[in-house]
Amino acid sequence: MKKILVTGGLGFIGSHTVIELHHAGYTPVIIDDLSNSELFILDRIEKIIQTKVIYHQIDCCNQAAFNQVIESEKTIEGIIHFAAFKSVNESVDQPLKYYRNNLNSLLVVLEAMEKYNIKNLIFSSSCTVYGQPEVLPVTESTPYGEIKTAYGKTKRMCEDIISDFVVATKNKNAIALRYFNPIGAHPSGLIGELPKGIPNNLMPFITQTAKGIRKELNVFGFDYNTTDGTCVRDFIHVVDLAKAHVQSLNYLFKNNAVSFMHCFNVGTGKGTTVLEMIHAFEKANDIKLNYKLAPKREGDIEKIYADTSNFESNIGWKAELAIVNACKDAWNWEKNVG
Ligand code: UD1
Repeated sequence: MKKILVTGGLGFIGSHTVIELHHAGYTPVIIDDLSNSELFILDRIEKIIQTKVIYHQIDCCNQAAFNQVIESEKTIEGIIHFAAFKSVNESVDQPLKYYRNNLNSLLVVLEAMEKYNIKNLIFSSSCTVYGQPEVLPVTESTPYGEIKTAYGKTKRMCEDIISDFVVATKNKNAIALRYFNPIGAHPSGLIGELPKGIPNNLMPFITQTAKGIRKELNVFGFDYNTTDGTCVRDFIHVVDLAKAHVQSLNYLFKNNAVSFMHCFNVGTGKGTTVLEMIHAFEKANDIKLNYKLAPKREGDIEKIYADTSNFESNIGWKAELAIVNACKDAWNWEKNVG
């Protein structure tokens, strides 16, 4: 069984990917420093897959500790690199924190790939690299718009760094997955999104409002140029997204002889407004949400959704789960999380 190092493996997308890796016959090795995750997620993962999971609590920016993990595990054959800071707002207030962490951790990963001859990398990128695109849906060759946040800039910089690395080393393969908006939770209700403090993202704010943790949900902006005036996003179920990583990894192993870097959009191809999402949640769970229309949030882009045909034809992946599944799973998780 091939051992795959998963940095940030106890995070939202990482934890779901660890489960899908196991189901696909890989052995995941988790690295996580718990800066934005909780140790009980490890127990939950083990409960879901009924197997012990290898875990090292280290900061991915700590090169000595990172290399020691690789040496102790010996046969790491691929890395999925999730570990990064991801709060858009925080990155505007504290850009250096984002440059230091997100760039440094990637450099540690790439230098280890070089030192220990690890060929395969999957990088956790984001549709944020496009800024506000002029044409929708976005394809991977859509010209980039301006990126206003340090978070977004680190994602674009990381893609550039990986691309240079692959060209220079000539024997490495990398896929950057540009996620659209991940939502939902594992259908078991045992793992899901765990925001620290007040959530920034829409779905955890919805579920916390439904539970009564938040008094009301603000809908940021209602006079955008969209069908109902609220922003449009491409919401993808986190289990579909996790499977996208496994299928990308399969592709890397199948095409091992050449050196390349691909960037792929991972979304559903469908645009959904914020209000549509709120109503979908209400309908799926038979709940009334307390929400109000509020001023725009600084830095939000009006609309974005993916053209995923490139990813589908090259990797053979397609989103299978609908928004209704994501709404039910996210609520099931929120109710159980304590
Ligand atoms: C952004 C990035 C995404 C990144 C994510 C990390 C873009 C297009 N997307 O997602 O790549 O991974 O941040 O956090 O840059 N909303 C409300 N009320 C709320 C919360 C959100 O109305 O309480 C609205 C937002 O204004 C937005 C939509 O819901 O229109 C989605 O917001 P959010 O979940 O924060 O994700 P993005 O900002 O789209």
